[in-house]
Amino acid sequence: MTKFTVNDRPVQYKMDPQTPLLWALRDASNLTGTKYGCGNGDCGACIVEVDGEAIRSCLVTIAEAEGRFVTTIEGLRRDRSHPLQQAFVASNVPQCGFCIPGIIMAGAVLLKKSNNPTDEEIDAAITNVCRCGVYPRLRDAIKRAGRVMRGEERIAAAPPPGITPEDAARAVPALTVTD
Ligand code: FES
Ligand code: FES
Repeated sequence: MTKFTVNDRPVQYKMDPQTPLLWALRDASNLTGTKYGCGNGDCGACIVEVDGEAIRSCLVTIAEAEGRFVTTIEGLRRDRSHPLQQAFVASNVPQCGFCIPGIIMAGAVLLKKSNNPTDEEIDAAITNVCRCGVYPRLRDAIKRAGRVMRGEERIAAAPPPGITPEDAARAVPALTVTD
């Protein structure tokens, strides 16, 4: 059994300890917001937060995640109220959307460290691949989210997603939730 915390819930995975974190999240926990792009650590589609750092979950085994705190896009803010989520919607950043969860998670980690990042800091933190080429807009949206976090701008709340995570989740045998 491999025990750690996912989106504030303690979990035990009944899986091979060498399973990549990405597949435990997607296949066992049904947290499919975290995407598989390259599987090599190159694209960033699989980025989640692990103990405050942006981590490519395709490169981390669940054994390496033992005892750590993992946050996925589903756990960032369940009501989509994170300033970066609001800024991405308000600035129409997503195109196809495939890369967006990884970018949001990398950006959220950046903004946690600095709510007024420079272009250089954004470029260094967001090395994700976006085939739709939203790079200029994502940089602007990260700055916009920083202004919201600093109290210099307000963004109207995005509409609710229409489904709850509980509705989307399903019981799977590879996952045990502990109290
Ligand atoms: S799937 Fe992990 S970096 Fe591409
Ligand atoms: S929005 Fe399509 S890959 Fe980035």
